[in-house]
Amino acid sequence: MPSASPCALVIFGASGDLAKRKLIPAIYEMAREKLLPEQFALVGYARSPMSDDAYRAECREAVQKFARTQPIDPEVWGRIERNIAYVQGDYGSQADHGKLQDTLRKIDADKGTAGNRLYYLSTPPNTFQPIIECLGKFRGKSGGWERIIIEKPFGRDGASARELNALLHKYFDESQVFRIDHYLGKETVQNLMVMRFANSIFEPIWNYKYVDHVQITVSETLGVGSRGGYYAQSGALRDMVQNHMFQLMALVAMEPPVALDATSTRDEKVKVFKAVRQLRPDQVDQYTVRGQYTAGEAAGTKTGGYAKEKDVPPGSATETFAALKLYIDNWRWSGTPFYLRTGKYLPEKLSEIVVRFRSPPQTLFQKQCESPVYPNDLIIRVQPEEGVSWRLNGKVPGGSLNIKSVALDFLYKTTFNVEPPEAYERLIFDAIVGDQTLFIRGDEAEAAWAVIDPIEQGWAQSARPPEPYAPGTWGPKRAADLIEKDGRRWLHLNGEADPVVACSL
Ligand code: BG6
Repeated sequence: MPSASPCALVIFGASGDLAKRKLIPAIYEMAREKLLPEQFALVGYARSPMSDDAYRAECREAVQKFARTQPIDPEVWGRIERNIAYVQGDYGSQADHGKLQDTLRKIDADKGTAGNRLYYLSTPPNTFQPIIECLGKFRGKSGGWERIIIEKPFGRDGASARELNALLHKYFDESQVFRIDHYLGKETVQNLMVMRFANSIFEPIWNYKYVDHVQITVSETLGVGSRGGYYAQSGALRDMVQNHMFQLMALVAMEPPVALDATSTRDEKVKVFKAVRQLRPDQVDQYTVRGQYTAGEAAGTKTGGYAKEKDVPPGSATETFAALKLYIDNWRWSGTPFYLRTGKYLPEKLSEIVVRFRSPPQTLFQKQCESPVYPNDLIIRVQPEEGVSWRLNGKVPGGSLNIKSVALDFLYKTTFNVEPPEAYERLIFDAIVGDQTLFIRGDEAEAAWAVIDPIEQGWAQSARPPEPYAPGTWGPKRAADLIEKDGRRWLHLNGEADPVVACSL
């Protein structure tokens, strides 16, 4: 593992939800695992006035509440705490950014952080431009490396993504820009590459000849919560599909990269997005379904419905559920559908990829069977219960020929007996060591938008509004129809047991 060089991490949006729940706890875990450099400083930057000590206390509370390993180790926390500072400022004020740079210079002198800066924009998208411009004015003066991490959304369509890229590239080289998609930091998502490319058994069958279809489900049991204002502008397609789900799809579908480096890996993902068949706006009703949750209850949480959520504008037609059927028009995947679905207030919190293989060419057992012998599935569970499950057919012991679908399971928890690290731990570490492999490249974001834009346009023009669905269900009925009209169905690991196929000899 490369070792991290001395640096200061600046978090814009120092007291925000992401900083408290994910970033600061991740810093603590990294310190605990000795992944942070000896000379490390954390600088919070936000609009509210606060002393260094008050910010330290806020960070300590966040770690006590949200760190993955509890109780927290006072020695580890002490090492971080004494290197925390806070700067109050407006995001677009050059004078305030000047104050920040002064603080950073002082930290370089006191703590030995060597002019290396990692700027983390954990702020709403409307602050990106002022922050980037101010940082740009001061760039190149620190005497060390400078990198910038930005959180999605990377624009809200292709045009705004290009504008954002142009703004970033005005001041920073692409090698300094780290667009974060936290799904790429999840252990199982990285395991997808290992599984595909460290094993020789998959490659020969990983194509349209043997794979019947792929389905990707990312379901959540909560609603839009306090983010109604943001969500109304976004919706499930922009919030989840354009980034997280497309990344999962790209890792399943891409060609083996020539090397395990950022350029080779990201080149292959871009090719996948470019090969996705773009829908014409008039095709969206045939290939997509959108839904909006109504009043009800899911997994013990009650809701008055999306329309009643805080900060949601009246009459918002934003989708809280989306299902798509896509094709990747290249040699490997020609004619193989990829079904994607995601939504809020669904029955389970689950992220899962199912690769369903074609049935055997001869129906040897089928002749004596009343119901079909199930085809094989490879189920990659991203969360929870991270792991991989093979569904194969086996003979049930006994005189008659009963076939049952059985599962060969690899579960992280039981196999390695460790809790996988949080995605942000891995990603912040990679940014400190300058490895961009698990970050989205500018052209990659644009290529993903090129698939999304016509769908958004089609929805805007469609006479069919998002369909209501009750919380605790798997979305509107049309989402089931989308796949069932092709003679398939949505599957998942915890689903109802596949029936035992009874055969008479
Ligand atoms: C975020 C979305 O990127 O991912 C949220 O903005 C969503 O709406 C979250 O809830 C899901 O992430 P995870 O890691 O909980 O699956």
